[in-house]
Amino acid sequence: MFKVQWKIILMITVHQINAVRAQIKTWQRLEQTIAFVPTMGNLHNGHLELVKQAHQYGQKVVASIFVNPMQFGPSEDFLTYPSTLETDQQILEQVGTDLLFAPNADTIYPYGQIVQTRVEVPELSDILCGASRPGHFVGVATVVCKLLNIVQPDVAIFGEKDFQQLLIISRMVEDLNLPVEIVGIPTVREADGLAMSSRNSYLTADERNKAPNLYKILQVAAQNLGQGISKVQIEEQARLALIAAGFKPNYVSIRHAMDLTEAGPDDGDLIILAAAYLGKARLIDNIRVYVTSQ
Ligand code: PAF
Repeated sequence: MFKVQWKIILMITVHQINAVRAQIKTWQRLEQTIAFVPTMGNLHNGHLELVKQAHQYGQKVVASIFVNPMQFGPSEDFLTYPSTLETDQQILEQVGTDLLFAPNADTIYPYGQIVQTRVEVPELSDILCGASRPGHFVGVATVVCKLLNIVQPDVAIFGEKDFQQLLIISRMVEDLNLPVEIVGIPTVREADGLAMSSRNSYLTADERNKAPNLYKILQVAAQNLGQGISKVQIEEQARLALIAAGFKPNYVSIRHAMDLTEAGPDDGDLIILAAAYLGKARLIDNIRVYVTSQ
């Protein structure tokens, strides 16, 4: 006697562009809407929230895992970026992903990334994270444009933790008239406030204890807005607080949330963004603040 064990495989994993297109076409013929969650893998609960939310926007949910070499600088962590495909597949399946696209670099950049046609969103890509990571957002915009063209989703979902990335992708979609709706999902945090990120795994135990201070310092800065303290002063206080908490700040900046232009003394829809190193990990976070006059 032998026991037959049935395992229902719900999620399809494909590695080739024509396989994605064939499956998407089948769904489109059945008039099913498609929501897409692009990722670089090493998934955490923040990604899972994106996938869960994607079910609100499409009848079929497609995720991608591709560690995009074009968005890493020469001295960044491309070669050590954690690759956890099997675990990621299991997790994606558990949250009801219908299709996973996991291409390799030759599939995405068949002629090599040096000669790849690029997509650049000027100005927005050159400030904040773009100023300290030259070329990063060209890499992001190029790969996201390619992924959107491959998957052709109705909606694509991105986390608000990478707020500048979200704005750049939204602008690219608008500028290039891509037929997709871009949706931002609020940052998912650990119980102590630390924004979830794949790069949190680089933190030592001691750094992990210090890491929630980034969000705490942003919260203090947010409380100070609209209290008669100048924006420059709030940014400087936050920068000094980060240094005191053991970070190496890259920037703390108060901007208009709609376009990341410098915020003036007036009220408005503002966002305080910060990037800081804690050991090997470069952490980013932000907090949105609607300032109204008293
Ligand atoms: O946010 C990310 O994980 C990446 O930048 C993205 C959007 C998947 C592009 O590689």
